[in-house]
Amino acid sequence: MPVQVLMVCLGNICRSPLAEGILRDKTRSDKVLVDSAGTAGYHIGEPPDRRSIQVAKMHGIDISKQRARKLHPSDLKNFDFIFAMDHNNLSDIKNLSGYDDRKAEVRLLLQGTAIGTEDVPDPYYGSLSDFEEVFELLDTACTGILPLIEGKQARDGHKK
Ligand code: 4NP
Repeated sequence: MPVQVLMVCLGNICRSPLAEGILRDKTRSDKVLVDSAGTAGYHIGEPPDRRSIQVAKMHGIDISKQRARKLHPSDLKNFDFIFAMDHNNLSDIKNLSGYDDRKAEVRLLLQGTAIGTEDVPDPYYGSLSDFEEVFELLDTACTGILPLIEGKQARDGHKK
């Protein structure tokens, strides 16, 4: 079984699709499954925001085929790690039914990083440079969580 990682924001069109694309690019392995979802359903079925697609493309990452979906309580059982982009997302995840019986380790993506903020700012009403800033934050954070994912892989490997 691959290690399964879910990135969560509000709309699943700006931040979490970028985080999904960045982490997939860093892992590039069928041993890690990366997905993203939104706590709200406003944009279900839509591609990422054109500015997220553009910023990712500037860094050599194609996220244009990703489609928005809404976070579902079953995600708590299916994923190993769920990373929230901000405190609002985190509290919405904690309010899902089944949270107390989850399999997933749930935390803020930026928690414990040297970045100095715990929330990835929502760039939806911002400019392309806000999306670029978000990309940089997510890129640093995704590098930071690689040891967590590798640790889980190592533990699973020992069980076999
Ligand atoms: P995201 O940004 O949560 O990073 O995808 C947003 C996208 C859409 C909306 C809010 C935030 N919206 O209100 O439609």
